[in-house]
Amino acid sequence: MRDIYVFGSLNMDLVIQSPYLPEAGETLTGSGFLVNPGGKGANQAAACGKLGGRVHMAGCVGDDAFGQQMKENLSRYGVDTGCVRSVEHVSSGIAVILLINGDNRIILDQGANAFVCVEDAERLLKNARPGDVLLVQLETPIPIVKEAMRIAREKGCITILNPAPLKEGVEALFPYTDMIAPNETEFAALTGTDILGKGSRMLMSAGIREVIVTRGSKGYCYISDGKLVTEDCIKAPVVDTTGAGDTFLGAMAVKLADGEHIESALRFANRAAAVTVQRRGAQVAIPTLLEVEEIFRAQRQRV
Ligand code: RIB
Repeated sequence: MRDIYVFGSLNMDLVIQSPYLPEAGETLTGSGFLVNPGGKGANQAAACGKLGGRVHMAGCVGDDAFGQQMKENLSRYGVDTGCVRSVEHVSSGIAVILLINGDNRIILDQGANAFVCVEDAERLLKNARPGDVLLVQLETPIPIVKEAMRIAREKGCITILNPAPLKEGVEALFPYTDMIAPNETEFAALTGTDILGKGSRMLMSAGIREVIVTRGSKGYCYISDGKLVTEDCIKAPVVDTTGAGDTFLGAMAVKLADGEHIESALRFANRAAAVTVQRRGAQVAIPTLLEVEEIFRAQRQRV
């Protein structure tokens, strides 16, 4: 099994359920307030840890109670947090999440996530070897993400870019990207088209070898070298979609690090994400390896 490195964000998610989106000046009665560890980077690392990967994370938290809590939580899920740094006199990243009918709307205060530096990337990847996997997203500054990807590439790692939330300047990362994994909206914004073939060709002309588009309730598409693989999402009652995309990517990374073929890694990822959407919260909702294996068993028994 190869090592997985996650360079990215940690946020405390403050979630409230709302019957609809309030108008300006309107006060609504919500319900089910939940405070729980999230952040795209930390969610992806937690998914790797819960699903049996050997995973290391670098990122920054504030010197507040949330920062401590988020680090401890990741360690409980089996993530090596030796490179998660606490920044003095700064607040931890916060995501205020409005949950309406299972879908989320998120407002971010990046807090300590803005303070990651090149040394964090260097420390994280000090022992990386060829064939290891690096996962990055865009909740930390792009120039530092680029440096992490450059170091990983130099060491022969597989680099996976989740361009979320999409930001200006992301193109600077393409020369260091092996796989890109946007959702449908990000894919259209990145390429200027929602036509899969055309958009993927554009990304590939920038040197990216593999494109995975996550499509929410419609599953995913994988495009590489003239090959197209699609699968519908696994039908499940949706409670909260927060962290489903992160689960998908963490799960895929675990299987790639295990030496599995991309197609079986994607099938595993699709099933893991289907469990996450059935529960409230981010990292807490991500399944364990046993839970995902149970889905495969149940599917085999049905055929
Ligand atoms: O991808 C889901 C995550 O996005 C949430 O946990 C929230 O922290 C935001 O960063």
